[in-house]
Amino acid sequence: MKVIRVLLVAGLLALIPLASPLWAAEEAPASPQEPTSPQLTSSDCIKCHPQIVHQIQEAGASHKTAVTCTDCHEGGHPPLVPKEQIIPKCSKCHQGKSHFELPNCLACHRNPHQPLNIVFEGETKPACKTCHPQQVKEVNEHPSAHAEVDCSFCHTKHGYIPSCLKCHEPHREGQQFEDCVKCHSVHKPLNITYGMDIPNMDCGACHGDIRELLESGTTKHAKLACVFCHRGVHGIIPQCETCHGKPHPQAMLEKFKGCLDCHQDPHNLAK
Ligand code: HEC
Ligand code: HEC
Ligand code: HEC
Ligand code: HEC
Ligand code: HEC
Ligand code: HEC
Ligand code: HEC
Ligand code: HEC
Ligand code: HEC
Ligand code: HEC
Ligand code: HEC
Ligand code: HEC
Repeated sequence: MKVIRVLLVAGLLALIPLASPLWAAEEAPASPQEPTSPQLTSSDCIKCHPQIVHQIQEAGASHKTAVTCTDCHEGGHPPLVPKEQIIPKCSKCHQGKSHFELPNCLACHRNPHQPLNIVFEGETKPACKTCHPQQVKEVNEHPSAHAEVDCSFCHTKHGYIPSCLKCHEPHREGQQFEDCVKCHSVHKPLNITYGMDIPNMDCGACHGDIRELLESGTTKHAKLACVFCHRGVHGIIPQCETCHGKPHPQAMLEKFKGCLDCHQDPHNLAK
């Protein structure tokens, strides 16, 4: 072991350019300093750490382009300095955002030489919150089965968006992921809202008899879409008067409880 160490130190020393031994101070100090570790440059590292250099070449991202090996690993090299001393803390360069206050950076950024190869493990919600506060707020404020699981239950990789159909059956045959999110907002799936582009068959998936009744009718209501009357929010019931005002003389209307006394059913009008 000792021999190996000596050889290693010798190897490292051999890498120092002869012309400039670092401990030979340019202006001779009064009392010469202890010899410090040999000063390696980033181009030396490849000689003994080819795999790491390769990893950075492959996917180093900004850690390849914006910094060098020795920006991070500075102050010498083992065994002349302890290993821990040359492993940088992320906070050396990354400060000032809530994201940089998280514990255990390397839990997600598993390999500092490939910082964007991110792995999710354990509860990720507090970390997601540092960059996506809106989605976390939405989930927290709207209790549902989706709020009870971690973000990474669905987003297994950063940026990956699963289809609802991976976990749920559709309401009707042929219904696609794009259809689901027209009614459900995934982070608050029980708040069901929609625009004017929902076809009757999507409502009919659960209200099949009403759809049949409406579409088989012979009055002008038969040509209207469900969402033309039931606008925006699931379960909303429109008033006839909102669209028709007062179509009959007041004296006539006063004798009846409501429009449906005569017209029977909005989905199957009696004229
Ligand atoms: C002559 C070969 C050689 C060169 C050149 C070299 N290293 Fe090393 N390095 C080693 C060896 C061998 C070890 C293991 C030392 C030990 O375990 O005591 C090591 C250990 C390390 C460690 C600590 C690893 C740990 O186990 O925690 C880091 C960080 C490191 N080197 C970075 C660098 C950087 C950065 C460069 C370029 C500036 C570099 N090395 C150049 C041979 C070298
Ligand atoms: C952005 C900072 C950063 C840069 C740039 C960087 N490293 Fe590292 N390196 C680290 C950190 C942090 C660790 C400790 C990783 C850990 O604890 O899992 C590490 C660990 C190491 C290790 C020991 C662990 C191992 O996997 O063997 C070696 C050797 C090493 N780096 C060499 C290099 C070399 C060579 C380069 C340049 C090609 C380099 N590093 C560039 C931050 C950096
Ligand atoms: C010596 C300085 C330094 C250290 C130490 C350092 N980084 Fe970086 N890192 C940078 C710079 C510079 C950038 C590019 C500018 C930026 O995004 O801030 C960067 C970018 C990143 C990026 C984005 C990469 C990209 O290309 O978009 C991630 C992720 C990252 N660092 C994670 C870490 C983690 C995790 C650690 C600790 C293991 C760490 N860094 C340590 C300097 C450093
Ligand atoms: C729960 C996982 C997780 C943890 C823990 C984590 N990060 Fe990140 N980090 C991410 C994700 C996801 C991104 C976004 C990557 C992207 O945009 O592709 C990111 C992006 C970054 C970036 C680049 C974007 C930016 O805002 O500059 C840096 C730098 C970074 N992280 C540093 C850190 C540091 C330092 C720590 C520890 C204090 C840390 N991260 C902890 C998941 C994590
Ligand atoms: C450091 C900041 C950061 C962290 C932490 C982070 N993200 Fe992101 N995320 C981003 C950025 C930046 C984008 C790209 C935004 C864009 O393209 O509009 C993004 C994109 C996404 C997308 C894709 C959006 C789209 O429209 O395609 C999803 C999904 C996502 N993040 C989920 C998460 C989850 C879940 C977490 C926690 C596990 C997380 N992110 C953590 C910064 C982060
Ligand atoms: C990774 C799996 C997964 C994905 C993807 C997913 N869900 Fe869920 N969802 C669940 C689980 C698990 C439950 C709770 C058990 C159940 O009801 O099946 C749930 C429950 C629900 C509920 C009932 C909520 C409650 O509190 O009762 C609705 C509505 C829902 N999901 C809609 C959707 C929609 C719409 C999408 C796509 C935008 C989607 N889900 C994507 C797993 C998933
Ligand atoms: C049940 C699965 C599920 C869970 C849990 C979940 N998401 Fe999503 N997320 C999705 C789906 C599906 C989409 C795409 C929605 C769409 O296209 O309308 C999405 C979209 C996103 C986006 C892209 C922007 C947007 O709002 O459409 C971000 C960012 C995001 N999610 C972050 C998060 C965060 C943070 C959490 C945890 C608080 C989380 N998600 C929890 C399934 C989920
Ligand atoms: C036309 C609007 C609409 C569309 C499109 C839609 N849903 Fe729904 N979904 C609802 C309504 C309304 C409920 C609530 C029923 C209730 O109160 O029981 C619901 C409930 C659910 C539930 C809770 C369990 C259940 O079956 O009652 C799940 C899961 C679900 N939808 C998944 C999906 C998926 C997956 C898609 C796409 C394939 C989708 N939804 C498309 C309106 C829609
Ligand atoms: C996944 C099945 C499902 C789908 C899809 C669905 N509904 Fe419903 N709907 C229900 C259930 C179940 C009820 C019973 C009351 C409740 O739970 O809200 C209901 C109730 C209603 C009510 C009556 C509320 C009340 O107060 O009596 C209306 C109106 C309604 N739905 C209209 C629609 C329209 C319009 C669509 C299409 C945009 C639609 N529904 C799509 C399941 C569904
Ligand atoms: C969201 C608007 C809306 C609501 C709510 C509504 N209607 Fe209509 N109704 C219409 C439209 C549009 C027509 C067709 C008018 C035309 O083409 O002249 C119509 C036509 C009618 C007609 C004539 C049918 C025909 O074939 O000539 C009757 C009767 C009628 N509505 C009764 C009602 C009653 C009763 C209610 C309440 C139970 C009601 N409507 C609710 C929009 C609505
Ligand atoms: C012309 C407007 C109009 C159209 C089009 C329409 N509805 Fe209605 N719907 C109403 C009105 C008004 C009521 C309230 C009736 C009452 O007070 O009894 C109602 C009641 C309902 C109810 C709850 C009461 C019940 O009958 O169960 C459901 C569910 C419903 N509609 C679903 C649908 C669906 C599904 C469609 C499309 C196939 C549709 N509606 C089309 C106006 C309409
Ligand atoms: C006493 C029974 C009765 C009541 C109550 C009643 N209607 Fe009518 N309504 C009729 C009859 C009968 C017609 C057909 C008259 C015609 O064809 O000239 C009619 C016609 C209509 C028409 C079609 C007018 C046109 O110009 O084509 C609308 C719209 C209408 N009613 C809406 C309503 C609304 C809204 C209410 C409740 C405020 C209501 N009705 C209450 C009996 C009634």
